[in-house]
Amino acid sequence: MGLHHVFRPLTLRHKTLRNRIVFGAHTTNMAEGGLPGDRHLGYYLERARGGAAMITVEPMPVHPAAVLTRGNFRPGCDSVIAPFRRLTSACKAEGAVMIQQLYHVGAHGDWDNSWHAHWSPSGGPSYHDHVGSHAMTETEIEETIDGFVQAALRCQKAGFDGVEVWAAYHSLLDQFWTPFSNHRTDQWGGSLENRTRLSREILRRIRAACGEDFIIGLSVSEDLESKVLPDRDEILRIIALHDAEGLMDYVTVGVGSYIAFQKIIPSFQFAENLGVDLAAALKASGLKARVIAEAGIRTPENANTVLGAGQADLVAIVRGQIADPHLVAKAQDGRLADIRGCLSCNQQCWGRRGRDYYISCLINPSVGHEHEWGEGRFAPTETPQRVLVVGGGPAGLEAARVAAERSHAVILAEAAPHLGGAFRLAGLQPRRDQILDLIDWYERQLRQLGVDIRLNTYLEAEEIAAMDAARVVLATGAQPDPSGFQKALPHVAHLPGADHSNVATVEDIMSRAVRPGRNVVLLDEGGHWRGIGTAWHLAAAGHAVSIVTPDAMVGQALARMASDGTARAELARLGVRFVTEHAIIEWTGQTAGCRSLLTGAEQEIAADTLLLATGRKADDMLADALRALGCAPLVIGDALAPRQAAAAIREGLGVMGEI
Ligand SMILES: Cc1cc2nc3c(=O)[nH]c(=O)nc-3n(C[C@H](O)[C@H](O)[C@H](O)COP(=O)(O)O)c2cc1C
Repeated sequence: MGLHHVFRPLTLRHKTLRNRIVFGAHTTNMAEGGLPGDRHLGYYLERARGGAAMITVEPMPVHPAAVLTRGNFRPGCDSVIAPFRRLTSACKAEGAVMIQQLYHVGAHGDWDNSWHAHWSPSGGPSYHDHVGSHAMTETEIEETIDGFVQAALRCQKAGFDGVEVWAAYHSLLDQFWTPFSNHRTDQWGGSLENRTRLSREILRRIRAACGEDFIIGLSVSEDLESKVLPDRDEILRIIALHDAEGLMDYVTVGVGSYIAFQKIIPSFQFAENLGVDLAAALKASGLKARVIAEAGIRTPENANTVLGAGQADLVAIVRGQIADPHLVAKAQDGRLADIRGCLSCNQQCWGRRGRDYYISCLINPSVGHEHEWGEGRFAPTETPQRVLVVGGGPAGLEAARVAAERSHAVILAEAAPHLGGAFRLAGLQPRRDQILDLIDWYERQLRQLGVDIRLNTYLEAEEIAAMDAARVVLATGAQPDPSGFQKALPHVAHLPGADHSNVATVEDIMSRAVRPGRNVVLLDEGGHWRGIGTAWHLAAAGHAVSIVTPDAMVGQALARMASDGTARAELARLGVRFVTEHAIIEWTGQTAGCRSLLTGAEQEIAADTLLLATGRKADDMLADALRALGCAPLVIGDALAPRQAAAAIREGLGVMGEI
């Protein structure tokens, strides 16, 4: 596929972008002591080397009231200039244009991080932590404008080519734009002219302070399902007002808002290219400023389609370049099949940011470790060895890949007829086929690297020992526990009735080893995709599903990926029944006896099949047998301790340090 729309340069003010792909703004939470350090530098430098035309470095809070995360940079402080200069110099030397986002989240702050009251136009509620905010005085508005301008000047001193002013997702500036959050009767409220005065004044004063050779962007968003945020016409009018004065060089268009957070970082539950509609409308409106479409664009092919259709001048690919920092360079070299495609899973990017850790990536655990695990550790070894990897799930696939990259002679033995292990079953759940793409990617990489892949190969300990490998890596995964043990009932080792023939695990369902009856009770202790995705799969196929969970809500573990609400809505639409804060005390073969964990009250749910999404046990029998033969294997992934795929891939990568 020719990607010529992607690889056309574009001029923004004094800078020419080498292609049309931007690494859009996102909080990596990598600051140390409020300053960008080695981790931060390594992260962005890798994406600059990987070909991103423009990098919008994560937001700088413009005022103490704007601080949102532990990993935010110090606001209002010149000590950030020198370390940022190190970052901009290094990335610019690799050909990237460097921008910094400037932000103020207004009412939706995080007061016990900032230790500051949230500031907003009219004291509206926070949709972040459900507290109230302070209605800004005229003096505080002036202080905030100055905060933006001083931050922009600091960026300029730090070598940034420009700034992106954040008026997206219902942050401070678009809180001023919308009558829902702006009830002011002074010059900052009322008419559209007044409500946009603050953002226009900020852009105007940044231009006056920073001069003509400085790029100014405006970040906006759209949340059409909200009944209180600007609709399409209003948002077009607002942007046109700014454009008429030539206040910004580009507009970045995202999706969602603090009111509908799950759309901001759309998981695989949403269609791709989500942010393109408003971008296309802006282009059609004849905007003078350049338009950047963002959200769910994910791949260079999508980017090329959007650009080719004239729906945007540039596209931002955020998670796609978190997952594969060399996405652009690979596309340019015609190596599209080598791009490790983002799963849109949010598990280690937003999932970690939401817990205030620095971000990483499920499929690329090097994210956040580029400074430590740079090119050297992948370099070919001078002492190649024979390495046997047993198990072709995510841990084994990654271990085989990195060992082969280091020039070891690698055999990968997998008992099943195909690669992927339990992760393949996850890829068979609704909308999760990006996981199957990833498994295909691994297979292609392993074949290119000359790994000897042996499918349908179940190895006994004696056979492994006889293979005489210098290193044996065991990645044999975990097996579901059929006992029905529940953490909520620790004194009950076996669920009474768990040995009935109509009890199965969610793995039995996804592998099609078991065909359930029409009415299914699914006992879900994890609240993760393992149970939820299986319930979705069955409900979509017409089964009547009841989920019983000890958690206060179905899909509790998905909350950290901003995916739970969408998942529950889909299950509810499909008629799935939610029985929360309950355990199952008995399965009769026809009914599940359920007990409330709150009141002890009991109820029965009739069903044809009981499905277990309860614990799993490490499949480590081979490890013990090998140790008995004097061969010490390296045990990784679920075989070490059952967890999620992110842990498996990270430990697979970790074998680099061992071999
Ligand atoms: C971990 C993470 C943090 C983010 N933080 C910000 C932010 O601080 N400011 C912002 O404008 N967008 C932020 N975003 C949203 C992204 O800019 C982008 O709109 C979103 O990831 C969708 O684009 P994608 O599908 O290419 O990832 C963040 C995204 C992620 C994954």
